[in-house]
Amino acid sequence: MGISRVEVERDLVVAGKEAVGEGVVRLTLHDPDGQPLPEWEPGAHIDLKLKEDLVRQYSLCGDPGDRSSLEVAVLHEPESRGGSSYVHDVLAEGDTVRVRGPRNNFPLEKSKRYLFIAGGIGITPMLPMVAAVHARGADWNLVYGGRTRASMAFREDLQRAYKGRVKFRPQDEFGLLDLPSLLGKPQRKTAIYVCGPEPLLAAVEAASQKWPKDALHVERFAPKRDLAAGPRTSFEVELAQSGKRLRVSENMSILHAAAGAGVSVLKSCEEGVCGTCQTKVLAGEIDHRDSVLDDRDRAAGDSMMICVSRAKGDRLVLDL
Ligand code: FES
Repeated sequence: MGISRVEVERDLVVAGKEAVGEGVVRLTLHDPDGQPLPEWEPGAHIDLKLKEDLVRQYSLCGDPGDRSSLEVAVLHEPESRGGSSYVHDVLAEGDTVRVRGPRNNFPLEKSKRYLFIAGGIGITPMLPMVAAVHARGADWNLVYGGRTRASMAFREDLQRAYKGRVKFRPQDEFGLLDLPSLLGKPQRKTAIYVCGPEPLLAAVEAASQKWPKDALHVERFAPKRDLAAGPRTSFEVELAQSGKRLRVSENMSILHAAAGAGVSVLKSCEEGVCGTCQTKVLAGEIDHRDSVLDDRDRAAGDSMMICVSRAKGDRLVLDL
């Protein structure tokens, strides 16, 4: 995935807010002056800046060919940190919301066949993906799990558009997704795309161990378990562009150390899941603790998420 230092922020108007499943609303966002919205590819997400210090990432679930609107769908999660409650309880049609992006950490790669696995609200990035692969005549299937049929957003749309291609597996009727039979035998030239709650992602990662390394593509909106944990030591960071040298203490992130020295970097989640703070590394060994980069990116060793990742050794040189 690429590093973007400049991301456009704009105010968009909530042109529509409607229920698309039990506890799920779809927001349709328009430019207030009718200007065309940025281009995006399936798998992309945007940041909604709901209030100062309340920034959340949501996958785009509409049509990338439609430059007049952006669509996201939000699950009401009363136990979460407040973003979904704000969207459900406060945000109304006609309101203005600050939007950053789109950014794509989950790009749709070319493959002969696709297996999409969605859990709950993880269906959102899959919608433009299945539309794209269906339009180009690729071989694809979607397995969609949820708590109950009523809770599964966009179920009727999917049923209508792609009869027979989508397996609906509400948990109260079928139990957990049968991953051993889905993934037990690696299939050639098949890309797996999965998005959903962390237990599903972890189970798919475990069940697809025998698949080729680059077959699995995972989208996370919460940090991978235990990744941010682990011992923390202090180290030095050199900022090559500004010539500054900083000490990053055990209880500080590189992002905060840089901001303290007057070098601010774009950020959003500060949990290592959105990719916004990705920074080029010029020297030093990285202790990756994010949930965005895949094995290939990590092996390249030339970029890191400075909100959570650290140094393995005493020193890193960053292109900042
Ligand atoms: Fe989201 Fe660093 S701010 S990955």
